[in-house]
Amino acid sequence: MINRIGIVGLGYVGLPLACAFASRSFKVTGLDTDLEKIELIKREEAPIYEEGLQDLLKKVLEEKSLKVTSSYKEMLEESDACFICVGTPSNPDGSVDLRYVKETIEMLGESYRRVDKYLLLVVRSTIPPGTTLNVIKKTLEEWSGKNIGEYGLCFNPEFLREGRALYDIFNPDRIIIGAIDEESGRILLDIYKRFHGISMPPVLITNPTNAELIKYVSNVFLATKISFINMISQLCQRIPNADVKVIAEGIGMDKRIGREFLNAGLGWGGSCFPKDVKAFLRFGEEIGLRLNLVESIIEINESQIENAVKLVEELVGRLDGKTISILGLAFKPGTDDVRESRSIRLVEELLKYNVEIKVHDPKALEKAKKILGDKVIYCRTIEECLTGSDLCILGTEWAEYKELRQETLKKYMRRPALLDCRRLYDPEEFREIKFSAIGLGPR
Ligand SMILES: NC(=O)c1ccc[n+]([C@@H]2O[C@H](COP(=O)([O-])OP(=O)(O)OC[C@H]3O[C@@H](n4cnc5c(N)ncnc54)[C@H](O)[C@@H]3O)[C@@H](O)[C@H]2O)c1
Repeated sequence: MINRIGIVGLGYVGLPLACAFASRSFKVTGLDTDLEKIELIKREEAPIYEEGLQDLLKKVLEEKSLKVTSSYKEMLEESDACFICVGTPSNPDGSVDLRYVKETIEMLGESYRRVDKYLLLVVRSTIPPGTTLNVIKKTLEEWSGKNIGEYGLCFNPEFLREGRALYDIFNPDRIIIGAIDEESGRILLDIYKRFHGISMPPVLITNPTNAELIKYVSNVFLATKISFINMISQLCQRIPNADVKVIAEGIGMDKRIGREFLNAGLGWGGSCFPKDVKAFLRFGEEIGLRLNLVESIIEINESQIENAVKLVEELVGRLDGKTISILGLAFKPGTDDVRESRSIRLVEELLKYNVEIKVHDPKALEKAKKILGDKVIYCRTIEECLTGSDLCILGTEWAEYKELRQETLKKYMRRPALLDCRRLYDPEEFREIKFSAIGLGPR
């Protein structure tokens, strides 16, 4: 029975996972090569924003069920299963950069060579089909000198949503285990049975390649749903009285379709969909298959930014000399993550015109500064962001923006106008000012 778990890579996936295991009577050793991150965690400070994470981190560190280190040797001595959660970013051509995964397996293999025990390696990073068998297994065996049976290996995709990471770790829809052999699958299943207890979710055990594919296909499918409704949003904008939000509600009532992932907006962004969709397209090319539906969803996603700029121009006329307030920069509410944020993409597009841009976000300002630098004005409050502006654009649907009223816009803005890029608002409530929204037909 495995009780001691190592987590390698303490980012948006690894840190919540480490805290979650530690909170359910596992002894966890977290490892990251980013020393600044390790120092922050040691001081009980979560380096990222995720709901509930700061409190849980503090609790498990105080209880000593979680410790963190930057030493592979130390992590290995104190763990019998090791979960790999390092990043797998994109190469410029869209393929997956496996540098961090390889580096991790090499360092782990090197330390493991000197240790005589069974270790279960569980890969949670998103990796292209075939990587567990062709890269991870080979690299580990080369560096550790051990063979399957002496160690175990599973690819176990992570499906958590940023902003809901802890909730999703405690309540996943399903667990997919891509096991290299029966023993590896059995041991990982046993870990999850003890973690979830009576609320154990459904499990699918398969080979690593199928599990790797399931992760990509899930993300591509979800991105397809979003692009589909975004295509419909562009259609609705050309039809008097049409409203994509109502269409989504109506089709979503059909159980075969489902309401989720049918929110029209600026498109899919974040650390996963853009890179995973591109990687999938590349993967198809590499094996001689043109995935034309995937090409189309990328194209639609890109066109949502142009679509938003068009709406801006329709609403306020020439952009030259205008001041624009952007509410929300995180790629979605509930996180400070701005990787591939669509709102930031829109800001960058608008900056091509001679405009002044003021921005606000409850959590992501610091991270946004690293991308936007001094090209925009950062505001601490919504009111400050609105002051003297000609247009307010809702870029990320944080709950606190829902409270925005037309009176506030009238009070602070030079010329009150609102563009709802996330369909947060009821158009009726903004009747007295200029109002437009993605997917809303002329009225
Ligand atoms: N973020 C998500 O919502 C999400 C959801 C599902 C799957 N995933 C996948 O999970 C993986 C991790 O994503 P993330 O968002 O947590 O990434 P991240 O960039 O937030 O975190 C990765 C961490 O790994 C560390 N790291 C890099 N190389 C290392 C090494 N050799 N040894 C130890 N640590 C190392 C980095 O310092 C960083 O802290 C990716 O493959 C991603 O596609 C992410």
